[in-house]
Amino acid sequence: MNSNYVSFQPLERLEGIIIVPGDKSISHRALFISSLASGISRINNILIAEDVLSTIVCLRMLGVDIELTGNSVVVKSGGIDSFKEPVGVLNAGNSGTTTRIILGILSTRNFFSVITGDDSLSSRPMRRITAPLMIMGASIDGRDNGNYLPVSVRGGGLKGINYNMPVASAQVKTGLILASTGAKGVMSIKEPISTRDHTERMLKASGVNLKTEDNTIELSCSQKPLPLNTVIPGDFSSAAFFIGAALIAKESDVLIKGVGINHGRTGLLDIVKSMGAKIELLNERYETGESVADIHIKTAKLKGIVIDDKSLIVRSIDEIPVLAVIAACADGETVIRHAEELRVKESDRIKAVVEGLTALGIKAKELDDGMVIQGGAIKGGTVDSHNDHRIAMAFAISSVASTKEVFINDFNAVGISFPEFMDIFNTLRHL
Ligand code: S3P
Repeated sequence: MNSNYVSFQPLERLEGIIIVPGDKSISHRALFISSLASGISRINNILIAEDVLSTIVCLRMLGVDIELTGNSVVVKSGGIDSFKEPVGVLNAGNSGTTTRIILGILSTRNFFSVITGDDSLSSRPMRRITAPLMIMGASIDGRDNGNYLPVSVRGGGLKGINYNMPVASAQVKTGLILASTGAKGVMSIKEPISTRDHTERMLKASGVNLKTEDNTIELSCSQKPLPLNTVIPGDFSSAAFFIGAALIAKESDVLIKGVGINHGRTGLLDIVKSMGAKIELLNERYETGESVADIHIKTAKLKGIVIDDKSLIVRSIDEIPVLAVIAACADGETVIRHAEELRVKESDRIKAVVEGLTALGIKAKELDDGMVIQGGAIKGGTVDSHNDHRIAMAFAISSVASTKEVFINDFNAVGISFPEFMDIFNTLRHL
């Protein structure tokens, strides 16, 4: 076996109190919005992981001064009008969020830029963001008429538009909202289903006037955010792996402190509650515009369900891999529908999940837009992460309910969103 395999032993008990790192979605937004503000912004508890570092490197290439000390950041910017034409090609690595948001910002600038990414990112669709930016007036090109990276942009002269988004995507929504800050007129964006609203919350906190009604966000263009002073809450999507682990372990009692519980992110909680989980949200509070709580989870006897509500899928889209592992440990069948977006994530997550479950002895099959999972016994085996951080972590936690070792191939993909995953998992595991 090569050094890229990591093995996870079955265990007796999962117990402890943990804190997960800062939220990835909110970390990206804090960096972008601070860079658009003229002045000095301070961001605490930012996520230090590969995706967020991709955003930092790209913004520095555009002339923004970003100083990192531990997980605190100071951003010094002259605002969007001070951005410089980058000398080299911007590289977003594996990060879809970096790409779709920065394309919105680059489209406002009257200079030439090119953005590229790794093999996974280069196979993910970009038309969903490049098409509306072209309607706003940006000149964009790329493979398949601007659908795949590398993409080049020559922006400037943008006008606000009325846009009906064909795909529910918070990344695209954010790219368009931020593009409006460098455009003229009025911008109106209608989402087919409402998605995480971190951007709207953060912009309001930085003085931007924006209103949301009937899934439509409306704002006057050319508004400039004020510098931020913010603390990033713990990442619900990272906490989700330990929520899953605590639900399926034989004996568990886990408290995860300081987790962001934005409504657009917590579909997993609603789903597992309807499967029979009893999860407590303690000490609910409001911190710099976002709801935060401590999450208390214990072992639960779960039953399979049919998830046929598209909005629940949108609210749990990054948690479907761990949900699939939870469903594998429930009694009966779980059906997941309307999740076709999983096919264009960091890997084809429908395929990767079904393949992983099958490798562990669970009966599962692919649907075009989801999967069917028969609850059963996890027997151990080797799972390929497909170099996808969330696949690696979802299957790592399957070991807590397994009779034999679980091996994960290319486990180091976790560095994309959660480099400390292993250390935190180890503090909970009692063999
Ligand atoms: C994200 C939005 C979602 C999510 C991704 C992060 C964001 O993607 O899957 O991990 O930070 O806005 P889509 O916008 O493609 O739905």
